[in-house]
Amino acid sequence: MIGHTVISVDEVSSTNDLARDLLERPDADGIAVLAGGQTKGRGRLGRAWFSPAGKGIYLSVILRRPLHGDITGLLCPAASLAVAKTIESLSGINVLIKWPNDLIINGKKVGGVLVERTGDSFIVGVGINLNTSPEEFPEEIRHKASSLYGESGAMFEKNIFCQDLFLNFERIFSSLTDETRDNVLEEVKSRSFTLGKTVTVSDADRVFTGEAVGFESDGSLLLKDANGKIVNIKSGEIL
Ligand code: BTN
Repeated sequence: MIGHTVISVDEVSSTNDLARDLLERPDADGIAVLAGGQTKGRGRLGRAWFSPAGKGIYLSVILRRPLHGDITGLLCPAASLAVAKTIESLSGINVLIKWPNDLIINGKKVGGVLVERTGDSFIVGVGINLNTSPEEFPEEIRHKASSLYGESGAMFEKNIFCQDLFLNFERIFSSLTDETRDNVLEEVKSRSFTLGKTVTVSDADRVFTGEAVGFESDGSLLLKDANGKIVNIKSGEIL
């Protein structure tokens, strides 16, 4: 069960690193690491993740279980969907998912998911801006970042949030198989911030512009370029 053991620390460099140190424990699968603040929180593509003490959720959970089929590409969308559902059930606010991992409310990013792999194990890191005031964000991200507090005016309790998220994680990860992947992708599609828009996406060495028209069954983004050609983008970011 996700969250069977919760290791809570005041401060850590990154909860993903602390979780990685626990991978060899016999009960590793489902362990959750929660920090009050992070000194070196990281996001995708080597970015820093703003992690002020006491303001947000900085959480990593270990998945070290047999996966049903080749679903590794779906872990990030599935985790993002679980987080979106938790935010929605606790705040009543609709959350959109910007491919591949951004949680968006009213056009601003309130959280993100970072899945890292070590051997056959995965660490699912989740950062949520819970009770951050708008003026507390560094100036360079203030125009695009927000928090649940900023968007709802309400404060949120970290432990209640995490308990709900553990349940949603367990539900989604234990039901994720080759057969159910399309259901997960349909749910991601129904909350997509990306589909239907013309976007510019960079992957490791290329930049594409096109209309986001769908997702491949491995979670990659399908873009239709100006010539009508469909391009499959496995990983990258929307600029
Ligand atoms: C992103 O949007 O780029 C992903 C952000 C993920 C941040 C979380 S906070 C908990 C965990 N520990 C980290 O260092 N990063 C993830």
